[in-house]
Amino acid sequence: MNDLSYLKGATVLVTGANGFIGSHLVDSLLSLGCNVHCLVRKSSNLRWLSSPKIQFHFVDLADPSFKIPNLPGLDFVFHCAGLTKAKSRKEYFDINSTVCSSLYEQCLNYKESIKGIVHLSSLAAAGPGKNGQWVDESTALNPITFYGQSKKSGEDVALKYSDSLPIKVIRPPVVYGPREENLYTFFKLVKKGWGLQIGSSQKKLSLIYVADLVQAMIAVCDPRSSQKKVYFVTDGETYSWQEVAKAAADKMNVSMKALRIPESILIPIAIFFEALAMLSAKPALFDRQRMIDIRQSCWTASSENFFRDFNFVPQFNLTTGLTHTLDWYVKQKWL
Ligand SMILES: NC(=O)c1ccc[n+]([C@@H]2O[C@H](COP(=O)([O-])OP(=O)(O)OC[C@H]3O[C@@H](n4cnc5c(N)ncnc54)[C@H](OP(=O)(O)O)[C@@H]3O)[C@@H](O)[C@H]2O)c1
Repeated sequence: MNDLSYLKGATVLVTGANGFIGSHLVDSLLSLGCNVHCLVRKSSNLRWLSSPKIQFHFVDLADPSFKIPNLPGLDFVFHCAGLTKAKSRKEYFDINSTVCSSLYEQCLNYKESIKGIVHLSSLAAAGPGKNGQWVDESTALNPITFYGQSKKSGEDVALKYSDSLPIKVIRPPVVYGPREENLYTFFKLVKKGWGLQIGSSQKKLSLIYVADLVQAMIAVCDPRSSQKKVYFVTDGETYSWQEVAKAAADKMNVSMKALRIPESILIPIAIFFEALAMLSAKPALFDRQRMIDIRQSCWTASSENFFRDFNFVPQFNLTTGLTHTLDWYVKQKWL
């Protein structure tokens, strides 16, 4: 990794700062000596943001007239806020795309001082690999869910503003690590001795441990960095879900049986959860959008361009990343 001493004393704004990825990013930025301004909502759970050095700004990005805080000399912006689950296509687009226009328009006021903006997108914006092949930055985008389409739309906005602002788009695959609550459900099943398998075919995926993603996000906003605007960032490996389940089972010392769910029963299950969610303000735990996602055989991306351009070597593989993650869940009494 390059020398990051230029970040000491930098003024940094992080959206989605209390979320899984945002909160790990905040920890790293604080340790590098940045003045960290966190954009959160009044309703946000701030349990991971305990440092007294953090400066909070309470802004709901769903408010069409939202204003980012006035931060003279703003150096860097990390846009991590986003919706990974929502009740409708509109909700996804409002937060993952429409917000970006207003955010980057307001960033133009800091054009003279801003040295880097990181727009956190997703592999979902590109869509799954075809015929078992991974995608890379040259692959035509083909998002297949509302989430992926809204993330692509957010990227389009970011790239439009990248003519005037130093914006880089990062597309991670599934991210795991302490504080994560989606894959956590999968690990809970493994702890009970069940390895979830959807359909009969092996489904492949890319992964990245959250600490590596955070290092990549910090590296990519280096003002001396490459001129390319979009990068996939993964840990460089490809896994099957069975391998992930087995690695977790080995680590937790449980013997595991396959819990096979035929694809044909996914629709009724999704409709059941959608109906339940109608009684709640929260989106469904599982819905037909998530179903489209998990039926794909290949959610893999190549990170070679990022590794080469940034001389980047991920510090965690599945074994070491899972060790940290599962130990953390146990320590928190989540597992
Ligand atoms: N986790 C992954 O595997 C993964 C993979 C690829 C890409 N990504 C992308 O990474 C980003 C962060 O994901 P995450 O996993 O950290 O999700 P997360 O834990 O759900 O965090 C999302 C953050 O966005 C904030 N947010 C949502 N709506 C908001 C609004 N109206 N106003 C202000 N803040 C709002 C949330 O605040 P509240 O707590 O107040 O809701 C939270 O801080 C997202 O853009 C996601 O698309 C994630």
